[in-house]
Amino acid sequence: MKIFRPFVVVGAALLLLCVAASSLRLSASAADRPPDLARLESLRVEIAHHDELYFKKAAPEITDAEYDALKRELRNLEARIATDPAAIESSPNDALGDDRSGRFPGYRHRVPMLGLEKSFSESELRKFLVRVTRTAGAERVTWIIEPKYDGLAISLTYERGRLVRAVTRGDGVEGDDVTSNLLACVDVPRDLRAISATPMPDVIELRGEVYLDHTEFERINAERRAAGETMFVHPRNLAVGTLKSSDPAVLRSRRLTAVFYGWGECEPATLAPGSQRALLERLSSWGFRVPPAQVAHGPETVWQLIRALDVGRTGFPGPLDGAVVKVDDAALRARLGQTATAPLWAIAHKFEPERVETRLKAITLQVGRTGVLTPVAELEPVEIGGTMIARASLHNRQEIARRDYRIGDTVRVEKAGEIIPQLAGVNLVRRSGVEVPFAWPDNCPSCRAPVTVEEVAVRCANYACPGQLQRRIEHFCSAEGLEIRGLGPALIGTLIERGLVRDAADLYRISRENWMAVVGLKSAERLVAEIERSRRAELRRVICGVGLPGVGATHAQKLALRFGGLAALRDASRQELESAGLTAAVATDVMMELKRPEVRMLLDGLLEAGVAPQPIERAGALSGATVVFTGTLATLTRAEAEQRVRAAGGAVRANVTAETSFVVEGEGAGRKLVEARKLGVPVLTEAEFLARLAPD
Ligand code: IVH
Repeated sequence: MKIFRPFVVVGAALLLLCVAASSLRLSASAADRPPDLARLESLRVEIAHHDELYFKKAAPEITDAEYDALKRELRNLEARIATDPAAIESSPNDALGDDRSGRFPGYRHRVPMLGLEKSFSESELRKFLVRVTRTAGAERVTWIIEPKYDGLAISLTYERGRLVRAVTRGDGVEGDDVTSNLLACVDVPRDLRAISATPMPDVIELRGEVYLDHTEFERINAERRAAGETMFVHPRNLAVGTLKSSDPAVLRSRRLTAVFYGWGECEPATLAPGSQRALLERLSSWGFRVPPAQVAHGPETVWQLIRALDVGRTGFPGPLDGAVVKVDDAALRARLGQTATAPLWAIAHKFEPERVETRLKAITLQVGRTGVLTPVAELEPVEIGGTMIARASLHNRQEIARRDYRIGDTVRVEKAGEIIPQLAGVNLVRRSGVEVPFAWPDNCPSCRAPVTVEEVAVRCANYACPGQLQRRIEHFCSAEGLEIRGLGPALIGTLIERGLVRDAADLYRISRENWMAVVGLKSAERLVAEIERSRRAELRRVICGVGLPGVGATHAQKLALRFGGLAALRDASRQELESAGLTAAVATDVMMELKRPEVRMLLDGLLEAGVAPQPIERAGALSGATVVFTGTLATLTRAEAEQRVRAAGGAVRANVTAETSFVVEGEGAGRKLVEARKLGVPVLTEAEFLARLAPD
């Protein structure tokens, strides 16, 4: 990367000088130019696409190893064609990605958050060590080796020892201000003075990583498995999704871990740590979790320590994807300097993903709640990282075609995020020619109705399909839905088989005797009580449980607040659905779904059973209002309070301005309160705030 970076700069400068000429070049069709340039452009498009999925949506389609391979190919290609500056302008290699979601106030880091150069082999790593040692000259280099955590980068700002802000990396310059969410689900010290007598900087930005440890990841997935829900694949994405969640219940129910290993701004600079070791000592004296850092003085030891981390990584409590090697001494770091995107005193050495090969015995199809047929790889059982794997998701039709999986192929199985296996391609060398391409059936494997082939998905359009019905009821009973404990997939299957359940409303119609006949006396008592309890479930859960297309927990909450009851939702127009906060496309799908006689029957059945009580907030109570919180509220977490403002149609801001509608004052309110008084912005107590949200 360092080899071609100067060319990037030259390229960008040239490009500025002759925008017209270069844009002509770039817009010429791929066929007109040398093949390398065409590949370069398609790689850029591909990488930008995967960046969007990874950073913005936290839902990658490819494995980290594949992504790294794409970036490497791009890098090599760029190095080879570096003589054509226009071709290498605005490479995504320059970018750090961008995790900002647009749902949080933006905040500019005082010192930008850089990324790290990566090495993928021993020789790449050694080149880095040699380069640094050369710059150090006579000075002996002390190296620090730390695990590379696979989570998301976070920057905490402490002013005179008090935590004032938590911001994600964003694009490195500006990130999402996730302070209240972080406080709700991560344990970090709020006041450093209370813990240690170390001299306290006026301002210090502390940098670290927020991640989900294996135990918590497995706990969340076990709950989902029990509820018959799809499981999360990657702890990193789940960590991002959690920290950026707008659902207070999600924030409350999951624990993230944060580890700290760096700093940005430090005022006064004289109080900045003189080395990585000094930083880590100070951080732990302040009560932060720090990485288990190891010290080395020569390349051999550095490499041995990296190898040891790699070998032992399965025993590590959190997800690791490599090791970070850093120069210890801050003065030497300053001499080494940095590029626009990464320091020159550190490198991330990426571990090879754990990968094994096995035979793809068959591809089976699972019918989803909305009729989508999901292909599942049935594998010759194989061990990976201590677990036996016999099945893996193949995602969709495009995935099978893209990778050309054939029955009988030798396929690569890889542990994504160290936990759940995925297929990572075919070993073509081992293909003998007898392998059989997968043929999609014309009929649904569950109900035999003809399937429709869409761009990505193959779908069964028969609403009465028993496969779909099974998943719909599972979803209705799941933790996101009405959370009916004891009603798992096997029992649901039996109820469907016996003709006791044709939609979720039937659950409320099954007599005690029938329950007893199916599950016996004791379980029947428990189930009847659970089902009784579920009648009082919150409306948002019922709406989510009904399983309208594109409506998950967040949209369900919006619909609950806007419509206040199932009857109003049943009769909603598209405009009303949009005004509840659904996109035009989702609103259209939902409206069409609500027109289906089966869906109307289901909603009527639920109403008849007395399911779904009152709404929580008066819809639009804070429509157009801009609200600022200060201090700690007594009855709500900050995240809950913010969520309720948004649900009532208002917006939350971090700072008080003349445009602020009102400030809500909590315990220990500070600077913002003074600001509000100065600008004449109304200040509400917590009780006054809650009264504004309450129904008329
Ligand atoms: S040091 C100037 N140390 O990896 C950048 N980063 O690929 C200083 N990461 O952005 C980063 N574990 O989010 C550092 N022990 C560790 C790390 C670590 C994980 C992340 C971090 C960084 C990314 C770079």
